[in-house]
Amino acid sequence: MSRAELRIESLAAGGDGVAHLPDGRVVFVPFTAPGDLVRVRLVDTRARFARGRVEELLEAGPARALPACPAFGSCGGCTWQHVDYAAQLEAKRRILCDAIRRIGGLDEPQVGPVMPSPSEYAYRGRTRVRVEGGRVGYLRRRSHALCAVSRCPVLVPELDQRLRELAAHPPQREGEWELASGSGEVRATPLGAPGAARIRLEVGDRRIGVSSGVFAQSNALMLDALASRVGEAAGCGELAVELYAGAGLLTVGLAERFDRVVAVEGDLTAVGDLRANLAEAGLDGVEVLAESVERALGGLAGCSPDLLLLDPPRSGLARGSADALAAVGA
Ligand SMILES: C[S@@+](CC[C@H](N)C(=O)[O-])C[C@H]1O[C@@H](n2cnc3c(N)ncnc32)[C@H](O)[C@@H]1O
Repeated sequence: MSRAELRIESLAAGGDGVAHLPDGRVVFVPFTAPGDLVRVRLVDTRARFARGRVEELLEAGPARALPACPAFGSCGGCTWQHVDYAAQLEAKRRILCDAIRRIGGLDEPQVGPVMPSPSEYAYRGRTRVRVEGGRVGYLRRRSHALCAVSRCPVLVPELDQRLRELAAHPPQREGEWELASGSGEVRATPLGAPGAARIRLEVGDRRIGVSSGVFAQSNALMLDALASRVGEAAGCGELAVELYAGAGLLTVGLAERFDRVVAVEGDLTAVGDLRANLAEAGLDGVEVLAESVERALGGLAGCSPDLLLLDPPRSGLARGSADALAAVGA
């Protein structure tokens, strides 16, 4: 069978639409939305699943939306602009529940609705673009080739404007550039450029300084909501242990709620930001461990904190560290 007519049922973690072949095998189809009826060419068929490519959209489902970006589909940056925002949020909730069930082995995960961004577009406060051959852009989907862009509608307006200027006058220095915005300022620098000013993120009435190359949450409109929600869920107590603390977006709130906080961060530039942010906020109850989580966990065994908070990178907790994590005794 090389072609099939399929009704898309849901969205998978990687972004593809999911349907089933008559023989029960799962089919992953990029750029489809729940409810779509599509004719697909099966480009990769395996014993337990297949991948398809849309040849024709026979019937648009109720979750289909019009992408705002002309580069959508060829640019590797976004995968869901063709999906209605409410359906995106529900898909994220379901994907998380599935992961907790499948990987965590919990039968009935209690996951509430995903908190929506105040804006579906114009929300990203940071991005990385490539400067190459006098052009500026992102990588093409599943490719190392450049997809030149001069606008990016997911960026906050001031960053979108900076991208437009950069594309109009591409810099001599090629490679990866980081664009970041903070309280009233925009920074566009080659990634990790020494001496680049810290961007100051507004988080409620606090400011969190973040250096070039250091992680910052991408949705600039949700920083306060995220930090507040984590703070509320964390409660109060004597000791909190925070792993993967970054520049301290969550650490500062924890330091106000717990007598003592141990914060672990492996990136030394981020550690510098974290220490500076704590000092500026006048918070001295935080012990910063500038080392990898894998290494720090050994020394934290049995410390029985009231709270153990993890915000790891996409790769998650390092393989083999689960036992050491449990031994912390939270
Ligand atoms: C997703 S970010 C979270 C940062 C912070 N919670 C925030 O919201 O800004 C993950 C952080 O973990 C750090 N990191 C990644 N792998 C690490 C490891 N193995 N040990 C320690 N820190 C690590 C990264 O440098 C990054 O700052």
